[in-house]
Amino acid sequence: LSENSESQMKIVVCRDLGPDVMPLLRSRSELEIVVWPHDRPSERKWLLDNINGATGLIVVFGEAVTPELLEAAGPNLRVVSTMSVGYEHIDLAAVAARGIKVGYTPDVLTDAVADLSIMLALMASRNAGETMSLVQSGHWPLHSWSPFGFCGPQLSSDGTTKPRTIGFLGFGRIAQATLARLIPFGVKHVIYTGSPSSPPTLERDQALAKEYKLDSILRVDIAELAKESDVLFVLAPGGPKTRHIVNEEVLRKMKKTAILVNASRGTLVDSDALAKALKEKWIWGAGIDVVEGEPKVGMDHCLVKEPRCVVLPHIGSATLETRLAMAALAAKNVLAGVFGEPLPSELNL
Ligand code: DGY
Repeated sequence: LSENSESQMKIVVCRDLGPDVMPLLRSRSELEIVVWPHDRPSERKWLLDNINGATGLIVVFGEAVTPELLEAAGPNLRVVSTMSVGYEHIDLAAVAARGIKVGYTPDVLTDAVADLSIMLALMASRNAGETMSLVQSGHWPLHSWSPFGFCGPQLSSDGTTKPRTIGFLGFGRIAQATLARLIPFGVKHVIYTGSPSSPPTLERDQALAKEYKLDSILRVDIAELAKESDVLFVLAPGGPKTRHIVNEEVLRKMKKTAILVNASRGTLVDSDALAKALKEKWIWGAGIDVVEGEPKVGMDHCLVKEPRCVVLPHIGSATLETRLAMAALAAKNVLAGVFGEPLPSELNL
């Protein structure tokens, strides 16, 4: 798996990045490339044994970059490159303290995750989870077509029905790409929350309103967001600041016909509170691509058991094109980092 030489710089790669991208790394004679040989998270012991002396490290979501790992790497480590836009698995204070650069993969996955967010909104509102499992379990014959069977709230509006108010918890790149996809659905009213520290966004909002012919776009607080949204998209970064930001208090404020979509990180939504909200019908349904504690989400998980909850196993960026682009960017980031060049996508620490 590796060729060793004193003069080579070592890069540890926690997942094989495939036949299109690995040659970018392997073709450099100055580099020793050490790759975890399985398509599952690298074992901690393997990583700790191999990281010593490394100049670069490529990880994916789920491989924790901790002070212990950085300690084991030693002083050569210049760059940690994650094949993800999210970075809460990296101890940023610890990498910053050691002067290590962090590369990540924003932008290239925006379209894929926005596509999936729309899919989840439609699946949840149209009862796709419940109805698909009915077909798969052979129960369709028991449910003949009925005038109001399996009806759910409609996402689109042609002007004769009340247009949906779309809420975004977090209004970054992916949320805005999701909004762009919603315009043909007749969306006219948008509300969103931003982090309290983010700068004023009036100019951007005016430009978006003009471009998409919106009647209104408003920054609101989370209580207002919960109260007014017909579909609430959770598209904000994970981490301690946003943990359980969607909790019982927020869910209780939502409309009975509202849909909650989470395509960001499972930690933002309190799973028990969401299961209760669905069971007691405070909201209509939920579509989630991420669950706190994933991938340990079995059939007995409170959300998997809820018929009105569509649960997907974190596939937001899983298109062939996007994953290839993410892998290539992760490789380019690590290469730039080890050779002391500016990273194509560097996280501001
Ligand atoms: C990311 O890039 O952070 C995604 O969640 C992984 O698909």
